[in-house]
Amino acid sequence: MTRTFILYSYGTTDDFNLDRLFESGRIDLVCRCVIGALWISNDVRRDTQIIIVLNTGRRPPVSIKFDGNKILGIEASELSIAQVIKKALSVVKDKEWANVQSGVSVSRRSFQEIVKDAKNVYVLDAKGKHISNFKPENPTFVLGDNVGLPKNEMSFALRKGEKVSLGNKVYLASSVVSVVNWILDQ
Ligand SMILES: C[S@@+](CC[C@H](N)C(=O)[O-])C[C@H]1O[C@@H](n2cnc3c(N)ncnc32)[C@H](O)[C@@H]1O
Repeated sequence: MTRTFILYSYGTTDDFNLDRLFESGRIDLVCRCVIGALWISNDVRRDTQIIIVLNTGRRPPVSIKFDGNKILGIEASELSIAQVIKKALSVVKDKEWANVQSGVSVSRRSFQEIVKDAKNVYVLDAKGKHISNFKPENPTFVLGDNVGLPKNEMSFALRKGEKVSLGNKVYLASSVVSVVNWILDQ
């Protein structure tokens, strides 16, 4: 069983200041989603990947893939992950996945290109089908950041899969990732 998260982010593709993650299109939020997707206490979820798609700055989009099976040398801290994102932005060339370091690769693929290649897609949205009794095989979960998924990206993702919901309340993106992991762990 594998799990994949795809996060649409308004984070910057420009170089950013590690002391100003909030002002870089919420790279702080992106880092927390990566932590929630991949880390449990003192270990990494080896069956899980998260792909973040950064969509602002001078040359968007940039997609960065974190693969729990191969991750080495990254701590479960915003600073550690932000440093890797910075490194990825300095390495990215074209649409081919380029190695950044073990378990991390980067590409100029767009959100739609990433979603197009994904299987068993579920779009996380408060207005979807309730997630109780949900037993998917090798699911891919799509979610937005603090702004949410743009309409056109939502429509595109819904061509591949249905909406699933954690309930009526709208939660922080990183909380949604953690709760989905918890549900799949049961
Ligand atoms: C902070 S929310 C986005 C808020 C944004 N203003 C909106 O209304 O879309 C971040 C993301 O978490 C996911 N999300 C939030 N609450 C959810 C819920 N109750 N069920 C499923 N997904 C949820 C959605 O993918 C959303 O784009």
